[in-house]
Amino acid sequence: MRLILLGPPGAGKGTQAKFIVDRHAIPQLSTGDMLRAAIAAETKIGLRAKKLMDAGKLVSDDVVIGIVSERIDQEDCSKGFILDGFPRTLQQADALGDMFEEKGLKLDCVVELQVDDDALVERIAGRFTCSNCGEGYHDKFKAPKNPESCDRCGSSEFTRRADDNEETMRTRLRAYYKETAPLVGYYYAKGQLKGVDGMGSISKISADVEDVLRKL
Ligand code: AP5
Repeated sequence: MRLILLGPPGAGKGTQAKFIVDRHAIPQLSTGDMLRAAIAAETKIGLRAKKLMDAGKLVSDDVVIGIVSERIDQEDCSKGFILDGFPRTLQQADALGDMFEEKGLKLDCVVELQVDDDALVERIAGRFTCSNCGEGYHDKFKAPKNPESCDRCGSSEFTRRADDNEETMRTRLRAYYKETAPLVGYYYAKGQLKGVDGMGSISKISADVEDVLRKL
């Protein structure tokens, strides 16, 4: 299965992708995570991306298209994958279509998570992750059972993203509505869009997403 998770920053794309990974045994390809790994490794791409990401702006289409094209050629993607945070512009969506055609792949579905702006800001403001295993948490909605340690690996080190602050969030939301929201119409017109109400609990949304995938 090959699918795209579409939605504004903080909509829950990463959270829902983890459930799909567990249920369907396909990898999550998050361009945000790939770029953050490039920043941590201080690669040329990472150094260029850092300034833009810290400011909440999009990284250039060429860079992310190249990263995704290389990634989907890897062995673990042979049975499918979840694209999380890509495509994010009409140019990226066209490039993805060309990529799929060249590689003989089929896109099964685009799941759009629909969330109100106020909820997005609250979700982003409270987000943190385990520095060791990457498990995602939220101060209010998904706190670890023991506040001092990660439920999954027991580590006591947590991090918050540099771009998870109110000012950058506003820039990220503007970028979403200007550059990414047109993809809703783009995939609707192709008959590939499935909207899911992203305002409920994490488990309810996960069940709704699974319902969509079961019917494919
Ligand atoms: P990226 O890393 O993709 O960030 P994003 O799209 O802004 O999305 P987030 O990861 O912030 O949110 P999410 O939807 O995954 O939410 P999550 O599940 O964590 O991109 C970062 C930057 O990289 C971009 O700004 C850009 O600069 C660059 N970039 C990346 N891809 C690019 C591309 N293709 N082109 C150009 N540039 C690119 O949930 C958020 C929080 O809410 C969590 O704490 C979670 O626990 C909580 N939560 C989740 N669901 C619920 C719920 N139902 N109820 C309550 N809380 C919830």
